[in-house]
Amino acid sequence: MESRSKFTGKVGFVLAAAGSAIGLGNIWRFPYLAAKYGGGMFLLIYILLVMSFGFAIMIAETSLGRKTGLSPIGAYRVLNKKYSCIGAIASIVAFLILPYYSVIGGWVMKYLAGYVQGETIAMATDGYFGGYIAQPVEPIVWQVIFVVLCGVVIIRGVKDGIEKVSKIFMPILLILSIVVAIYSVTLPGGMEGVKYFLLPSFEHFSGMTVVAALGQMFYSMSLAMGIMITYGSYFHKEDDLEKSVKHIELFDTGIAIIAGMMIIPAVFAFSGGDETALSAGPGLMFITLPKVFANMGMSRVIGLIFFLLVLFAALTSAISLMEAVVSVFCDEFKWDRKKATIIVTICAILLGIPSSLGNGIWSGFTILGLGILDQMDFLTNSILMPVGAFLTCIFVRYIIKPQVFIDEVKQSSEFKREKLFVVVIKYIAPVCIVAILVTSILSTFGFMSI
Ligand code: PFF
Repeated sequence: MESRSKFTGKVGFVLAAAGSAIGLGNIWRFPYLAAKYGGGMFLLIYILLVMSFGFAIMIAETSLGRKTGLSPIGAYRVLNKKYSCIGAIASIVAFLILPYYSVIGGWVMKYLAGYVQGETIAMATDGYFGGYIAQPVEPIVWQVIFVVLCGVVIIRGVKDGIEKVSKIFMPILLILSIVVAIYSVTLPGGMEGVKYFLLPSFEHFSGMTVVAALGQMFYSMSLAMGIMITYGSYFHKEDDLEKSVKHIELFDTGIAIIAGMMIIPAVFAFSGGDETALSAGPGLMFITLPKVFANMGMSRVIGLIFFLLVLFAALTSAISLMEAVVSVFCDEFKWDRKKATIIVTICAILLGIPSSLGNGIWSGFTILGLGILDQMDFLTNSILMPVGAFLTCIFVRYIIKPQVFIDEVKQSSEFKREKLFVVVIKYIAPVCIVAILVTSILSTFGFMSI
């Protein structure tokens, strides 16, 4: 059998995994949640969670991948036949997220094209975004382009596709986000936004701050979706796993903080310090920001840079989702990469179409008030992801035992946070994951708000 492709080394792995982690979640969701849940307080809790909880789960997933050298389903099966279903859940999550993530990726491409063509003012008008996403054809065309771009990268393989793209996109993304953040912080009134973002506010703090930070951390670090298992399976035995995970955490959290510095001060400067402008949620990126940009100097250039960096972030995340699915088809059905990629690309396009049409001609199709795209988001992120993560902890604790993972990590690392890993996996993670599951269900049924 052909030997498994690998990343060339630690840098390739870190940039590819950071590319997966850094996505739309960092850029619009993190700043919006931070603004809502007490600024600096949210930030502090988030960082603590990433360093403990996120670290432990990411170590478990990457070491599972490296140990078995297989994609999620096979990885669980090799360790215990009965538990391959955990890998199957993870792969299904990736398979279902990819289509609707691509719909949003398509919106990003449309906005980027808009800034290239100089439609700065049009994109800032009321109703532009709602009107655009309700169209039956154009959003689907952009979605198709987005998915096909991911397919082109995946077909080229781990080294020549994923690693190469990540090595180009991630440094550019970092530089562009620093440029936009500097611009935003130096706007008149921008410093007020910085203070709001960084200084802890106890008045906004509650138990929900912790739950919101937990949910965000999970999504942001691309956990429980099989991705880190898959990428771990392309990692060399001799490369330092613990250090790599630390670098992914740093990169992911760093970009989330820089994104806060891009968005919060700009919105503050635009709204004259009115923080409610930040509460637009998902609309923040497509509705509020174009208005903010249109009211500032250099709007076309800043809009262009911003949506370009968002596109890079979204593409590398979608690529990781596609790779997690393609690798399962290659390992389980022995398909070659080309065949698997073409089939997954077609499925992602077809499955994404209802999510796109759900914003327009199929908007009548709602469940619990959620449109099709939000239903997919709810099913994957609020239900399947926590369930998969919970089962992973149970698997690591009772079925395989943490020592197997510790031995794998220690093959190439000192494993300084070994004790933390054990405590989190055994006691903290299962409780926290159940908390995320319960609160996200309650909030969807309208019993509480996250
Ligand atoms: N981690 C990405 C983000 O923060 O946007 C999102 C993401 C990527 C979610 C890959 C899920 C995934 F499988």
